[in-house]
Amino acid sequence: MTDHNPEIERPEERVPRRVIGTPPPGAAQSLLGEEEAHHEVKVPGVKPQDPRTAKKGERIAALCFTITFLAGIAFIASYVIFQVGDIDSTWASNLALGASLTIALLGLAVGMVVWARMVLPKYNMVQERHPMASDPQVREEVGTTFMKGADESGFVKHKLLRRTLLAAAAPLGLAPLVLLKDLGPLPETKLRHTVWNPNQHGGKKLRLMVEGTGQPIRATDFNTPGGLLSVVPEGYEHDLTVLAKATVILINLRPEEIKSGTNKNWTHNGIVAYSKICTHVGCPAALYEQNTHHILCPCHQSTFDATDGAKVIFGPAARPLPQLPIDVDAEGYLIATGDFPVPVGPSFWERGDAEAEYREQGKQT
Ligand code: FES
Repeated sequence: MTDHNPEIERPEERVPRRVIGTPPPGAAQSLLGEEEAHHEVKVPGVKPQDPRTAKKGERIAALCFTITFLAGIAFIASYVIFQVGDIDSTWASNLALGASLTIALLGLAVGMVVWARMVLPKYNMVQERHPMASDPQVREEVGTTFMKGADESGFVKHKLLRRTLLAAAAPLGLAPLVLLKDLGPLPETKLRHTVWNPNQHGGKKLRLMVEGTGQPIRATDFNTPGGLLSVVPEGYEHDLTVLAKATVILINLRPEEIKSGTNKNWTHNGIVAYSKICTHVGCPAALYEQNTHHILCPCHQSTFDATDGAKVIFGPAARPLPQLPIDVDAEGYLIATGDFPVPVGPSFWERGDAEAEYREQGKQT
């Protein structure tokens, strides 16, 4: 038996007792103090929400946030499940990502609007013009008003709304992290070579197939000087990843028009092949002016001279379109006898290393 001394304060008596699992007292659900939380604002034009409307709004908004949560999960799942590659899979991936993100953002927006219109009290606001700089008293009032607005939003009190909103935001917050996966892995030497390299196919030299029809082309069928044709590698006619680097333009020139910048050993009866990927930032350079033999890139007007190794004569591109070595096979079809000597496309990727490698190869041969 112990004596109870009223002078000695016991720790458990300093704070209200609360059993875990029981709801907190009303004041604890408010961002304001207890007194202000229960203080009714008597302002003309302020109309508190009808409790039934507010409850209904809470349910609708919670449903919207739940939909956002599920759509956010679906967005991440879509990114993992739908891999891009050919046209169909890329289309499916874009559709799934776009649809899920749209639904997620729509659900979030509708939930917020319903929350504002059906849960919050209605105000008739009049905004007075005032000097730009606020005095300390106004700032204090703004702070108080902000806290009051936050309190009236019910963020603390409406647990269901709060939790579903936080749950809805979580997957959307993680979505950018998932997209970081696209930053890697490093391409290493993949950008230096294309599938035109016969070594990738056990020495087989790929035919040049007409883009669109997918048919091989005989040199004798492409015999009109001034003509231009887009061609793609045999066996890769629908592989967008490969075609992004390996698409080529064929141009038929009169042999006497070909200048020293063009490697004549890589042409066939005046037919010359250049990469179609602009060396500026990679647009397809396929506009051809027959009289001047200029290849024009429509994106930023880089212009290349087809008779002189496709060197740049105008525009922002910094180097010529790489030339592809071509010949004909036993049946007269045009084939690539090797890969491009330098990487195709924009100058900024790996060009330094690749050209050093190219020069090294040139010394050895
Ligand atoms: S991409 Fe060709 S000029 Fe810019």
